[in-house]
Amino acid sequence: MAGYDSTMEQHKRTATCGELRGTDAGRTVTLNGWVNRRRDHGGIIFINLRDRYGITQTVIDQDAPPELSALAEELRNEYCIAVEGLVRPRPDTMVNPGMDTGEIEVAVQNLVILNRCDVLPFQIDEETNANEDLRLKYRYLDLRSAGMQRRLRLRSDVAFAVREWMTGRGFYEIETPTFIRSTPEGARDYLVPSRLYPGKFYALPQSPQLYKQLLMASGFDKYFQIARCYRDEDARGDRQPEFTQIDIEMGFVGRDDVLSMTEGLMGHVFKKNLGVELPGQFRRLSYDQAMETYGTDKPDLRFDLPLKDFAPYVDAGSFQAFKDALAAGGAVKALVVPGRADYSRRQIEELEAHAKIYKAGGLAWIKAAGSEAAPALEGGVSKFFPDTAGTGAGNAASIDGASASGMSGGPAAIVRGLGAKPGDLILIVAGEKRKTVNTALGAVRSKLGKDLGLAAGPGRFEFVWIVDFPLFEYNEEEQRWEAAHHMFSYPQERYHDSMEQDPGAVKGDLYDLVLNGYELASGSIRIHDPALQKRVFSIVGIGPEEANTKFGFLTEAFKYGAPPHGGIAPGLDRLVMLMAGETSIKEVIAFPKNSFAVSPMDDCPGEVEQKQLDELHLTVRQREQPV
Ligand code: AMO
Repeated sequence: MAGYDSTMEQHKRTATCGELRGTDAGRTVTLNGWVNRRRDHGGIIFINLRDRYGITQTVIDQDAPPELSALAEELRNEYCIAVEGLVRPRPDTMVNPGMDTGEIEVAVQNLVILNRCDVLPFQIDEETNANEDLRLKYRYLDLRSAGMQRRLRLRSDVAFAVREWMTGRGFYEIETPTFIRSTPEGARDYLVPSRLYPGKFYALPQSPQLYKQLLMASGFDKYFQIARCYRDEDARGDRQPEFTQIDIEMGFVGRDDVLSMTEGLMGHVFKKNLGVELPGQFRRLSYDQAMETYGTDKPDLRFDLPLKDFAPYVDAGSFQAFKDALAAGGAVKALVVPGRADYSRRQIEELEAHAKIYKAGGLAWIKAAGSEAAPALEGGVSKFFPDTAGTGAGNAASIDGASASGMSGGPAAIVRGLGAKPGDLILIVAGEKRKTVNTALGAVRSKLGKDLGLAAGPGRFEFVWIVDFPLFEYNEEEQRWEAAHHMFSYPQERYHDSMEQDPGAVKGDLYDLVLNGYELASGSIRIHDPALQKRVFSIVGIGPEEANTKFGFLTEAFKYGAPPHGGIAPGLDRLVMLMAGETSIKEVIAFPKNSFAVSPMDDCPGEVEQKQLDELHLTVRQREQPV
């Protein structure tokens, strides 16, 4: 390339900033990177040079040529530079065992400023404490931090491990369209107006659900895709308007095939990327068990703290709210918090406020006291459960005239029955709706898990399958049944005859994989029989005509020998977030949106020119500021 002159041709790196060791001493190298830190020790200047691979200390010695020293003095953080120099061992006292390249430094002989850097909006450290919108506005700078670099590398490695494992087991990676027909799938669709067909729209897929089922009808048998999905729903820590699924579908399988395939995939991904050995099989809980024991279908099993039934003790006591709840067909449930009888009234009130967010009427409490041989109850509602059975527990809970009878309501029976120990705090929720009681107390359980650090510590991964979900949920507002997951999930065989009579009782072959309290994946065995599919449509209020307009292509496809099939979709963002020990998926996405579905960096969504609107046959009625 005669005459071709580029700065990089002359200054291209011969080593990265992460690779030089003591054994490289004596080499002359060129490094490219960013000034991580410059320290001027009166004549001798240290420049820590950083790139994706690490940090290397470079030095401009006191006796360096004046032009070199002058150039080095000009350097500021995040200048992009090339240095050429000699690798030399650091003096013994300067060796830094905490740094991969800590045995050496590079004595700079030549320095080129490739690009200068303006005053930074925030410092680039391991993790920045700049506020989120500033981080997102200058995301390209935020991504230079060691934390973001590490997490995006993990994400890339995880995606690779997924592909490696799936293709190794005969799965094909097949792309499906991202301009699709709008089909109801739970959230709102993002729509793309068609220029060619006025008034018509494409939708961005909420997931490749229908296409992967069609691929099964086409005989592909084992499909996967690392698929972008789009949902117009409120953002949360674990939700983004666009996100990525590891979308999987298999032909001729039953539920357990999909579960064990997923266990194998997770096992590979965790072993390969974190060196963590997962159990060959994950725990399983039915939806009903999960709700009864943990008050949620996403239990964090890094700690136990199960919900217990308090109903057996209600009759013998005299607490009216408990009795009323049971009389109305509701529930009274308790949580035993070990060793927390020292909780202050204010702390308990805080828990109660939390329970009320989840529609609990209140949060009653009692402290377990006495001794193991003679347990007693103290404080809170204990006065309604006096010791009338002479257990020798003292009279902490006895009040004159309280009506109570028999052992089943006595303090000792309650403490022992709940598996509590003296010094434990017992929290109780009563209500007319069992689900509300479970959910509210489950929320208290989760809060306690966080407050007490029960789930703390890195590297703890508790997977659990939640199976046997209800197929339908009743929408009180709209007074109709709707699909709990989506409309293509298979009702378990034993409900086929009675589906229409009692939709609420129908359990589906659907499953969620939960990790540390997050729903990591969801899937199901699908309906492949068009007649059964029609019945499900009709229960959720989709008549034959609407079904035909919206899903005609799917039901039509299933007329031509579609095989039984099923699948699952783990969220890639959530998976990497949990592996990285983070609580927001934004930390593992290069360019996420903020909580208002906006990208502050490129100010997206943005307005478009009138000409573009005209081409799309669109008129904006009113430009409103989002709230
Ligand atoms: P589902 O809607 O449960 O199932 O989604 C599957 C998984 O995708 C992830 N996920 C999200 N991640 C980030 N932001 C979001 N807004 C978001 N929404 C979902 C979660 C979730 O568990 N087609 C079915 C799967 C199937 O039946 O095979 C589906 O999409 O990790």
